Amino acid sequence: MEIPRVLISPEQIKSRVERLAEEISKDHPEHSGDLVFVSVLKGAFIFTADLLRSMARPADIEFISVSSYQGTTSTGHVRLIQDVSADIAGKQVILIEDIIDSGLTVDYLLKVLLVRQPASLRVCTLLAKPSQHRMHFDISYVGFEIPNRFVVGYGMDFNGKYRQLPFIGALA
Ligand code: IMP
Ligand code: MG
Repeated sequence: MEIPRVLISPEQIKSRVERLAEEISKDHPEHSGDLVFVSVLKGAFIFTADLLRSMARPADIEFISVSSYQGTTSTGHVRLIQDVSADIAGKQVILIEDIIDSGLTVDYLLKVLLVRQPASLRVCTLLAKPSQHRMHFDISYVGFEIPNRFVVGYGMDFNGKYRQLPFIGALA
């Protein structure tokens, strides 16, 4: 198994995730209503867990699962594999992604979630690649902007491998 080169260290991830949680908590005070994180499986599960544990206010969690990637290439087709299990109507919803590349996945998921009439719907992504700037949605919270490289670790995989790495690394 190829060892990825470290792009973002565990320490850098930790402090950025804590700052994101502070921002989200500040923007969604408890009196403003129920907050729900909709975490996009599988890649965002570790990020979501760390983010949730850094929150200064309660937040519930839902999972949604889509598929578009095979290896390092997007098929250009997003397919819903598993939907959320609760009604998000009237809730403040934050869609939690590991990485936004073309933006196709988030664009699709925002459409799926919006018709359910949440009180608010925002996007939080750990990583963003430059190519997403073509998309028509706003990203309220971004952990790190990264170059156009395929990255793994901290929940993100290449063909099911590398998810357990504590850092974010680039494959050669
Ligand atoms: P998009 O639809 O092109 O924005 O791709 C977003 C999805 O593809 C993310 O949710 C990831 O699951 C996956 N993805 C995109 N780039 C990478 C990468 O560099 N490493 C791992 N997964 C990636
Ligand atoms: Mg993802």
